[in-house]
Amino acid sequence: MLRKWLRHLRLRLWILPQLHRTYSSLSVAETFKKIYRTRAWGNNGAPFTSGGGSSGPVSEQYCAAVVEFIRDHQVQSVVDLGCGDFVVGRQIVEATGVRYTGVDVVPELIEHHKSTVHDPRVSFQCADITSDPLPAADLCLIRQVLQHLSNDEIAKVLANIGTFRWILVSEDVPTNPRSFNRDKPHGPDVRGYYGSGVYLDRPPFSRPAKELWSFGLREEAVLRTVLLGQASAK
Ligand SMILES: C[S@@+](CC[C@H](N)C(=O)[O-])C[C@H]1O[C@@H](n2cnc3c(N)ncnc32)[C@H](O)[C@@H]1O
Repeated sequence: MLRKWLRHLRLRLWILPQLHRTYSSLSVAETFKKIYRTRAWGNNGAPFTSGGGSSGPVSEQYCAAVVEFIRDHQVQSVVDLGCGDFVVGRQIVEATGVRYTGVDVVPELIEHHKSTVHDPRVSFQCADITSDPLPAADLCLIRQVLQHLSNDEIAKVLANIGTFRWILVSEDVPTNPRSFNRDKPHGPDVRGYYGSGVYLDRPPFSRPAKELWSFGLREEAVLRTVLLGQASAK
């Protein structure tokens, strides 16, 4: 118990402030490039690893729910903003045959996908989702991306995705949050270390968002998915 508490204290007082100093001086693109280069999210043997969240039971539950959503709503095309290592996207394409565009800010990762994924239904585009024009699609997926951005950057993403009919945003949030949307600089860490998470339905974002799914990640955290876009108001 004491050991756990000391570890937590070290994380809060030493490791996280140091991490924030390192990454806040980098641009968003440089930040995620460095995260992949230094394997900050682990190493599954592939050239790019987006972290443990891309695989495992919760990832499977998420994919099954998205596949059902795609079928129920006759979705023909999907854009996956912050597609990362494409482990999750690949499962969705294989289960549905949907047209899929993966978007990410890291040029090397996008080049890697372009040279290794040979599927006529699948394409990739390098873009910063806080500011660049985005490809059109019926459904926009954003999964475990906003949790790595600052509140200002999240607001910019929200302003940039207004045209999609359906938007599913999935973020890790604490089971018993101590706060909502605690701000942090962009980087590999998440608000969960502070007992907080991204809640688009709460200030400062206050978007009409309908909670669709919540899958238990650990005792203290869930992967929460909300529906935004025109359909969320219905
Ligand atoms: C934790 S990974 C999640 C990957 C994938 N969505 C998944 O669920 O497995 C976050 C991804 O978002 C990308 N990303 C973060 N900020 C971005 C931005 N502003 N524009 C585009 N991609 C971004 C990162 O490069 C990274 O690949």
